[in-house]
Amino acid sequence: MSQIAGGFIDFSQNTLYFSALAIAFNPTFWNIVARSEYHNKTLTRLFGRNSLRACYALAITIFSLGLFRDALYGRVLRTQPYTPTFHHPYIAYLLLALGNTLVLTSYHALGITGTFLGDYFGILMDEPVTGFPFNITSAPMYWGSTMSFLGTALLYGRPAGVLLTVEVYLVYLAALQFEDPFTSEIYAKRERERKGNGKGKGKKAE
Ligand SMILES: *[C@@H]1O[C@H](CO)[C@@H](O)[C@H](O)[C@H]1NC(C)=O
Repeated sequence: MSQIAGGFIDFSQNTLYFSALAIAFNPTFWNIVARSEYHNKTLTRLFGRNSLRACYALAITIFSLGLFRDALYGRVLRTQPYTPTFHHPYIAYLLLALGNTLVLTSYHALGITGTFLGDYFGILMDEPVTGFPFNITSAPMYWGSTMSFLGTALLYGRPAGVLLTVEVYLVYLAALQFEDPFTSEIYAKRERERKGNGKGKGKKAE
């Protein structure tokens, strides 16, 4: 058994690596697919030139990948070594409550196409969403998810979970560097088109 720091994390367990792979894979996957859709309409073509249907299909795929990732993470938490110093149920419940609130209210504010990369399909929001939770953080979905990962790790008292949470944080941070400038440009482009099309009264979003 290859363990470090007196058995905090058991690096001989394959589930640890599968879980780490799933965490890194998901945002990589949806960014590659979304950019391919934006540039070549890949998914829209695949779904009979129906962008809405294609976006829903991607939403279901991303959601399912998320469930799979969470299931692997749950397995890691049940099988990795327990360490009392990482066991903090009250902090855990607080993090889980806050994290889930951020994620669920984001879903509610953005809707399915807004949550699942509709912008890349040409399905744009009419106006930028500025209410809760977007007045607290610009990426409530990502930070809410990170809080839930940490909360679950502290609920189980598993250092391996905290390590994977660090990975989740870094992966989301990298995803934001990649996604934010791109989606900003999609909306900036629409603004330029609106200004070019109508005089004064902007055209309603398509
Ligand atoms: C965010 O908006 C909600 C209402 O949508 C409001 O109750 C809350 O005080 C706002 N928070 C901040 C930090 O502005």
